[in-house]
Amino acid sequence: MELDGKVSFITGAASGIGLGIAKRFVAAGGRVVVADLKMDAAKAAAAELGGDATAFPVAMDVSNESEVNVGVDLAAKHFGTIDILVSNAGIQIVHPIEEFPFADWKKLLAIHLDGAFLTTKACLKYMYPQKSGALIYMGSVHSHEASPLKSAYVTAKHGLLGFARTMAKEGAKYNVRANIICPGFVMTPLVEKQIPQQAEELGITEERVVKEVMLGETVDKQFTMISDVAEVALTLAAFKTNALTGESIIVSHGWHMN
Ligand SMILES: NC(=O)c1ccc[n+]([C@@H]2O[C@H](COP(=O)([O-])OP(=O)(O)OC[C@H]3O[C@@H](n4cnc5c(N)ncnc54)[C@H](O)[C@@H]3O)[C@@H](O)[C@H]2O)c1
Repeated sequence: MELDGKVSFITGAASGIGLGIAKRFVAAGGRVVVADLKMDAAKAAAAELGGDATAFPVAMDVSNESEVNVGVDLAAKHFGTIDILVSNAGIQIVHPIEEFPFADWKKLLAIHLDGAFLTTKACLKYMYPQKSGALIYMGSVHSHEASPLKSAYVTAKHGLLGFARTMAKEGAKYNVRANIICPGFVMTPLVEKQIPQQAEELGITEERVVKEVMLGETVDKQFTMISDVAEVALTLAAFKTNALTGESIIVSHGWHMN
């Protein structure tokens, strides 16, 4: 699977899964836009990815409409167009519903859902006229399953599944595909932070959080790796026809099976 210079706009690309996808795409001959909250982190990742010719840093909060529009236009000007969007930026906030601050609920939904909406709209401005493109959303097993304490995250990830399917239908006449990747637990800063939080909320040890809560339903008690998710993203980005659209690809060591 090769990307032949194709330009990918990847949100949350300064860390974790987003950075792993950016690395894989550059290794496959792609050029990447590293979009993240802080310019210094985006710049450091872009430098690691080969600098100006292959990686362009932009700072944006994906839930801020003007920052998204300015950032996408800047990146398209730098590279000439946008061929692929990986809408990946996300956060996790866990609380039982009765203690869930409304502000946290709104913040999480805004980053996942407004972020996907705004970046999609901004990137389609380049994809529709050229009659090609690929939209990739970072869902989760929580696009299909629910877990306690994660009402906002489960709601957002289910929402992204519906959004990806709708984009597959709307994008078809412009030759734009849309798919969603649904990973199980991947050891990234987002998950590292959750282990002590969940241990406290559930009143169990951190070891039990990992073994029982995070990996309990997998077939082999293994974490999904960033490289596994990046490989699936590359397949979706480089796929040659529109046969693969509107799909949810679950990468979870069998935790959830469609
Ligand atoms: N790690 C997992 O187990 C796992 C499993 C399934 C899905 N996911 C999803 O994968 C995506 C990436 O998660 P990760 O584990 O790599 O997390 P991470 O914390 O390592 O990386 C997330 C990145 O998003 C950026 N970000 C956060 N809010 C942003 C905003 N408002 N605007 C722009 N950038 C923002 C952060 O700065 C960070 O660089 C998320 O959508 C997450 O829900 C993660």
